[in-house]
Amino acid sequence: MRVLASAPAKIILFGEHSVVYGKPAIAAAINLRTYVEAELRDDKKIRIEAHDIKVPGLTVSFSENEIYFESDYGKAAEVLSYVRQAIELAMEEAGVRRGINVSITSQIPVGAGLGSSAAVAVATIGAVSKLLGLELTREEVAKLGHKVELLVQGASSGIDPTVSAIGGFLYYEKGNFEHLPFMELPIVVGYTGSSGSTKELVAMVRRRYESMPELIVPILNAMGKLVEKAREVITSELDEEEKFAKLGELMNINHGLLDALGVSTKKLSELVYAARTAGALGAKITGAGGGGCMYALAPGRQREVATAITIAGGTPMITEISREGLRIEEVMK
Ligand code: MEV
Repeated sequence: MRVLASAPAKIILFGEHSVVYGKPAIAAAINLRTYVEAELRDDKKIRIEAHDIKVPGLTVSFSENEIYFESDYGKAAEVLSYVRQAIELAMEEAGVRRGINVSITSQIPVGAGLGSSAAVAVATIGAVSKLLGLELTREEVAKLGHKVELLVQGASSGIDPTVSAIGGFLYYEKGNFEHLPFMELPIVVGYTGSSGSTKELVAMVRRRYESMPELIVPILNAMGKLVEKAREVITSELDEEEKFAKLGELMNINHGLLDALGVSTKKLSELVYAARTAGALGAKITGAGGGGCMYALAPGRQREVATAITIAGGTPMITEISREGLRIEEVMK
């Protein structure tokens, strides 16, 4: 038997970074996916094959790596440390150790703030646990995905693996989530072309928090309140036009607060301002920042905003929310 699992990328709409401090955040799964195929081997080896792991500026295709490899593939190696932990945890959970082949293909750029590591971890846990005869719920996979992030990156709120495992449009707070009413969001994601390390950015915010709590705590509190306001707007009876206008305003405030935390870059700000000038109602960083992506809310102006992002030197992606999170299929040989 072979098992094929896939999990989506995500965008954080509101509340990245403050979510690490127990504040709420709102995120959605998007329609870029990571695919992981797993099958049993006759021996005890674990082999990971990774195809097309998209790393900014580098597309790596390699195969026949043993799991405990030392590698100089940079960001791709970082992704593989998530795979390795995900396999270990799935085996621990199943209480069996078997030799397996794991093959990964991903459409999600690495280090772009779109949750590539979480999607890889979730899809790997899904595929390996099913292969070992374990029926985990999506929530259980999300919790294991969170453990993987804690092991690899040191600190994590768990929002990325939760959105990737569950899918759709979620309000998240301290490990718990709630589905928000589904909305078609006319957004454009703009990729700066450079990557940021979530681990380093989360650690950098932590240093600021520890050295200047009197300044940073009010910023994090404001972000938490802003997320509550966004939830009120999303769940309100307002018509779509009014909702978009209010959400756009909240996005712009959220961007300013993230900039104050120090996670924006010149390029991210340029893409944000280019999008706003081209008619977006709001634009902000999405994810950890330090490079990676921004997104803009642009009802009726998606094409114009995408063009403006291109002219400003970014790569636009017009994406849709994916209702589907982790998907697992058994494939008979
Ligand atoms: C990364 O997508 C979101 C952060 O808030 C980190 C986390 O929540 O674990 C920066």
